[in-house]
Amino acid sequence: MAGVLFLLLGGCVPADSPSDLELDPLMLRMQIHTEKLYYAGKAENWELTGFYLHEVDENIEDLEAAQIIEEGVDVGKRARDLIGPRVEALEEAVKNQSRSAFISGYGTLIDGCNQCHGATEHGFIHIEVPKGPTRYSQRFAPVGAPTEP
Ligand code: HEC
Repeated sequence: MAGVLFLLLGGCVPADSPSDLELDPLMLRMQIHTEKLYYAGKAENWELTGFYLHEVDENIEDLEAAQIIEEGVDVGKRARDLIGPRVEALEEAVKNQSRSAFISGYGTLIDGCNQCHGATEHGFIHIEVPKGPTRYSQRFAPVGAPTEP
């Protein structure tokens, strides 16, 4: 049954290889967690920031487990090597509760995302530091604190 479904889906989207079908949802998840990470850090909600850093790291683990090769790039391994240390630098910023270290480290993380998009012929997927207020129905400032600390 799963095989039949797969064939049917494959027939509907002939341009997608199985690895595209696997990688795209992982990247969408990465984008959401990375974006929420920004709002949490900007609001100096260190507990929530730590939570999203952990989620980003788990996304890297999922990329490693998926073992996808894109334009000759081992996506999981490259993600670990390229953005793993940038996530660790942000963990340090959280430990030190440093908003300025977080903001500059976040820009470095986003550069890492775009470096790999370039290396895998997806440079047209360009991630940016979020601008303006959040579109999420979620509080990013610590509960009980003013919205803009
Ligand atoms: C090691 C390589 C690599 C890294 C690192 C990487 N990406 Fe990607 N990303 C890709 C590839 C390859 C695709 C194209 C996937 C496809 O073909 O479906 C992609 C696609 C995407 C997409 C498009 C998904 C869509 O449907 O709109 C988004 C968004 C994205 N990445 C976000 C990120 C973010 C945010 C980061 C950093 C936190 C990141 N990526 C880091 C390789 C990478």
